[in-house]
Parts: sequence; C-alpha cells; structure tokens
Amino acid sequence: MNVKVNPYEVEGKIDYDKLIKEFGVNKITPEVLEEIENITGEIHPYLKRGIFFAYRDLKKVLEEYKKGNKFFLYTGCGPSGPIHLGHVSTWLFTKWLQEKFDVELWFQFTDDEKFLYKNMSYDEIQKWTHENMLDVIALGFDPKKTHFLVDTKHAGIMYPEAIKVAKKITFSSIKSAFGFTDSNNIGSIFYTAMQTVPVFLPNVLKNENKPCLIPLGIDQDVHFRLSRDVVEKLGHQKPAIIHSKFMIPLTGPEGKMSSSNPDSAIFLTDSHEEVKRKINKYAFSGGRDTAEEQRKYGGNVEIDVACQWLKYFEESDKKLEKIYEDYRKGKLLSGEVKKILIEKINLFLALHQKRRKTAEKLLPKFIYKS
Ligand code: TRP
Repeated sequence: MNVKVNPYEVEGKIDYDKLIKEFGVNKITPEVLEEIENITGEIHPYLKRGIFFAYRDLKKVLEEYKKGNKFFLYTGCGPSGPIHLGHVSTWLFTKWLQEKFDVELWFQFTDDEKFLYKNMSYDEIQKWTHENMLDVIALGFDPKKTHFLVDTKHAGIMYPEAIKVAKKITFSSIKSAFGFTDSNNIGSIFYTAMQTVPVFLPNVLKNENKPCLIPLGIDQDVHFRLSRDVVEKLGHQKPAIIHSKFMIPLTGPEGKMSSSNPDSAIFLTDSHEEVKRKINKYAFSGGRDTAEEQRKYGGNVEIDVACQWLKYFEESDKKLEKIYEDYRKGKLLSGEVKKILIEKINLFLALHQKRRKTAEKLLPKFIYKS
C-alpha cells in the first residue's frame, strides 16, 4: 500500500526517518533530551521511547525558557467521533509539558474543520465537540491554565486574525499541499487559516509576544508548514513544534487508529469487557502459531501490538524491558502480554471514566472568555 501521511489520510507502513527528511523536521537526539531534562528534572517515557521523535525550533524555545521567557502550549482536537487512545497519548504528553514547564495551554476544537471535511451534520459535530471537551477535561488539565477555543463559538476573536493569515496563502499552495481539486468545497480551502490562529492569538489577546510550542501527531505538520512563514510576516514568532508518531491500530502495524474503524481502536468510553474483547480478538500478534512454537522460538516484539501499546501504558522501563525480553525468549505468550495490557488500560479507563462524570461541571472554567 502507498504510504500517506497528511491530516486527512494516514495509510501504510510509515518510515519515520524518511518523514523527517521529507517534512524537513529535526530528529530528537539524546542531546535534546538532556536539555529538556535539565529543566524538567525528569524525562517523560514517551520522549525516552521515541514516541515523540521530531521537532521544529524546539531548542530556541528551551533557550528562551531558561532565560525566563515562558512559552505557551497549543494543541487541538477535531471533534467528529469518540476519543481513542491515539488522541490521548498526545494530550497526556501535553499535560506533562504543562505541569513541568508551568505554562498555559490553548486547546482548539475544530468543529468547523470536521463539519467541512466529514459527511456529518452540524448538529452531530456539535454533539461530538461537547463530548470530546469532557474527555479532554477528564484527563486532568489545570483549569486555571487551560483555555478552550471552539472555532464556531470563538469566531468573533478568531476570524479577524484568520483572514490576515488567509490573505497570505495562495489557493495553489493549499491545492498542492492537500491534493485538492476543483470539487473540494471552498470552506476546506480556507481552514488552514483557522488552525493557524491559536499560534499567536493568545499574544494578540494579551498584548504579549510569547513563543508557542505545539505538540502534535506528525500528520498535522502540513498546516504549520504552510503557515509558519506567514505567521512571521504578520509580525509574530514562528511556532515551535514537537511531533509524535502514531499509535498503531489494534489490527496491525499499518496506518493509524481511527474513530471510523471501531475495531482498530479503543475508545475512552469503552467498557472493561469491550476492552478485553477487542484486544483479545483483534490485537495483531507477533507470536508463533502455537504455544509450543512460541516457547521454543519466541515472539516478535516489534510487530506485536500488545507489546507496542505497552510503551504507552507501562511507565517502568525495567518492567517493560523484562516483558519484551520474556516475550522474545518465549517465556511469555501473546495471550499473557495481552492480559497485562488489558489490565493497564482498564485501570487508566476506570479513573478516566470516573473523572469524566464531573467534567461537565468544570466545562465553563475551561472555555475561553474574553
Ligand atoms: N486538525 C486537528 C484534528 O483534526 C485538530 C487541531 C487543531 C490540532 N489545532 C491543532 C491538532 C493543533 C494538533 C495541533 O485532529
């Protein structure tokens, strides 16, 4: 299958080193990790394990931070379905950054984008916007330092800035970046301007000039590739970016998890039984055909979904290494690794689902009020 990585299609077996070259981003090196650790005092497992693996302008932002100039964080959610574990990994890392650097986070809900790109009604998208906001809140962001922007609701402050961005991006660059043709709707042509606005909106609102750091899945990089120069022309700083790989789908190592394929993903609203069923039934195995063969020859950690997913859920490096070693040697069978994973995920979901029940009450604190 052809490899595709853009905001609207992720397909095939992705070679991340190749993407680094194609997109013109930098690889996160041990030296960069050390610079982060010097400030934060510890290094997040997702950084150590190469889940967040690339960046733009990150060193500059860290230098400024050390001089006492804080940045703000910006990330977002396209609300068109239930939240799955793939979304959550980026946001959990964002939360860690918010805590360790003690900075503000601006969180954009792109209801306009999803309405324009998906075959869904405006009302359905509004319902998902609401539901998704509750999940983001339940992850435990600090309401005092987190501001939600909902594109259609905050249009009054966003639109004047969006047209300034839009005026400096041509139809031909959008067309080639996204592969648009004459039959794409005109709203989707404009949309990149809306995703660019939070890069500098906080500075406009507060009359400041702080740098912006965007944690994102690398499929989202295109929007900012198109608009980083534009932002600078408008008198703002180019945003820094830190890129993550995709969490592989349950069903195997290609593409990314997707809300439109429920078997490929675990949703935050899935019950314990559902998690167990999906993992046992669909998680692609790197094991052998029989338990006997597995004991004798061992399994392949690299392609085994349960092993790979544990990178996101087993915080202890030692425990993870031991599981991998035992799996490679055939001491652990695929079903046993799945069992460990199911327990980890269900523990996480139990806490999440509990917090989600009280999230509604907190919602007004998160929505930005000018
Ligand atoms: N377009 C993203 C999506 O479909 C949502 C989004 C908006 C976003 N702004 C962002 C994601 C900034 C990462 C960073 O999910």
